[in-house]
Amino acid sequence: MLELFESSADYLPPIKESELSDEEVLKEITSIKRELGNDVVVLGHHYQQDDIVQFADYTGDSLALAKEAAKLSAPYVIFCGVHFMAETADMLTKPGQKVILPDLNAGCSMADMANSEQIDAAWERLNTATEEKIIPVTYINCSAELKAFVGKYEGSICTSSNAQKIISWALDKGEKLLFFPDQHLGRNTCFDMGIPLEKMVIYDPTKPKGGLTDEQIKDAKVILWHGFCSVHQGFTTSQIKNVKKDSPETTVIVHPECRFDVVQGADLNGSTAYIIETIRKAPEGSKFAVGTEINLVNRLANKYTNKKIFSLSPYQCLCTTMYRVRPRWLLASFKAIKTGTPINVIKVEEDIKRDSLLALDRMMTIS
Ligand code: 13P
Ligand code: SF4
Repeated sequence: MLELFESSADYLPPIKESELSDEEVLKEITSIKRELGNDVVVLGHHYQQDDIVQFADYTGDSLALAKEAAKLSAPYVIFCGVHFMAETADMLTKPGQKVILPDLNAGCSMADMANSEQIDAAWERLNTATEEKIIPVTYINCSAELKAFVGKYEGSICTSSNAQKIISWALDKGEKLLFFPDQHLGRNTCFDMGIPLEKMVIYDPTKPKGGLTDEQIKDAKVILWHGFCSVHQGFTTSQIKNVKKDSPETTVIVHPECRFDVVQGADLNGSTAYIIETIRKAPEGSKFAVGTEINLVNRLANKYTNKKIFSLSPYQCLCTTMYRVRPRWLLASFKAIKTGTPINVIKVEEDIKRDSLLALDRMMTIS
């Protein structure tokens, strides 16, 4: 279990609009950040809103931010992202450094789709059904407890940037793979690696015995957890058809958290860092329909005005939990640091951290 000390969402000083306008909030952040200087580093995920990204000392995808956190020496790290990212940063920073999540309600619905009890039950179920060696791999989008589970059972963590490397490592070590919580990243990556769909099954923790017979488990190479990202589920093949009908020269580029048929129908797929780099390198006049979170898509569209960049979906695919980190919350985090009573400090318990770090170190070594 994670320990939150000196903190709770309730402790956040409500910086109301009646106290400070939006503009004043941004001005205050600028000045307090300057005042605190090197004592505070702000990390920002690519899905953060522009008003937050402008204050980030480093922006990146999950892998880049984890690597950056491990290098930092500032006493305070404000993590503008979601809870599992701040937990990961806490485990990778040095003792004494404090990692702060501006809003404790910034979670990840996919990460919440698997918990320790369910994973323990699945592990027992699978190992009772087969004698073959199963290696567990978790997507970094999960709680520290699940990272500790894979650490303990010889597995690893992966991100969307290194999933192929980690899965291939896991399948060299064992005969089968248990991949959680995102079925789509697991399926899309394994399929790209040449594993046929017939060799993949879904373990559904809400069904008796995970919804699988012993024969299905014995026959499978890959057991995928029944988890998904509700933001990326918003992209569909009919959207791809519509884009291609109107503008066949447009490149459809999506995140691998999208469904299998969407990834298959897209021209390209990869992590947020891959999407950004692909668009950056593309020649002037290129057109991209992007299947990922709207804040990132809009930022790319505003940055590369000599290219046509738009969301694959006509709806706003917004990660509402990422969006909880707003300037008022960031300012409250800074103010609390300034007064010497930091709030919303994320602290993973030592025994969980120990096993999680085994898995995080494996990931860093492999990728
Ligand atoms: P990236 O690692 O590609 O940034 O993805 C993180 C995430 O949560 C995507 O939904
Ligand atoms: Fe989680 Fe999806 Fe938001 Fe990423 S976009 S943080 S997977 S809910």
